[in-house]
Amino acid sequence: MKNINTKNLKLRPLTMDDTADVFAYSKSKNVGPRAGWKPHETIEETEEIMKTIFVGQENIWGIEKDQRIIGSIGLIDDHHRQNDQVRMLGYALSEDYWGQGLMTEAARAVLAYGFDTLALSLISVVHYPENLGSQRVIEKCGFYYEGTIRQADKIYTGEIRDVKAYSITSAEFQ
Ligand SMILES: CC(C)(COP(=O)(O)OP(=O)(O)OC[C@H]1O[C@@H](n2cnc3c(N)ncnc32)[C@H](O)[C@@H]1OP(=O)(O)O)[C@@H](O)C(=O)NCCC(=O)NCCS
Repeated sequence: MKNINTKNLKLRPLTMDDTADVFAYSKSKNVGPRAGWKPHETIEETEEIMKTIFVGQENIWGIEKDQRIIGSIGLIDDHHRQNDQVRMLGYALSEDYWGQGLMTEAARAVLAYGFDTLALSLISVVHYPENLGSQRVIEKCGFYYEGTIRQADKIYTGEIRDVKAYSITSAEFQ
């Protein structure tokens, strides 16, 4: 998997050495719950997530800035679509860096990688209706709004949530 360099960021594979940086933003109550995951309570919890979800996974990048990992972004399986040319975009950023256009910059670069290098035909993304920051990232990247999938997700609290679903095709991106 290749590193991706953008104007302000380096997207690169995560290693276990990044655990403390990932814990630093993942413990916030403002980050995980907006994406449906529980804030990390201990660094051991982060270590486990690093091992099972991040390290050694294809197409999941740490977002590096100021020599630190400040977020992650990835192209993961889309369980709603039985199509191996489709991936779903997911991302999270340390709240210290919100509102500077950084995730839009990272997402655009990952979309370009997905279409140009992985030759995907379509990339999807979802967000919870009240997550307006993520909605704006998605809109700024040029995604097409498909509709709301009602009662789509059971989150870590057990609560059932609707998601707003979007996609962009290779042709639309070019
Ligand atoms: C969503 C998230 C990735 C956005 O990252 P970011 O780097 O701040 O995004 P950008 O700066 O590129 O764009 C954010 C946009 O949302 C807007 N925005 C942020 N909060 C908003 C709110 N409450 N209401 C309306 N717009 C909002 C910003 O003004 C900006 O839009 P603009 O450029 O038109 O002004 C970041 O907030 C995050 O990590 N949140 C927690 C995890 C998460 O939500 N992951 C996504 C799950 S779908």
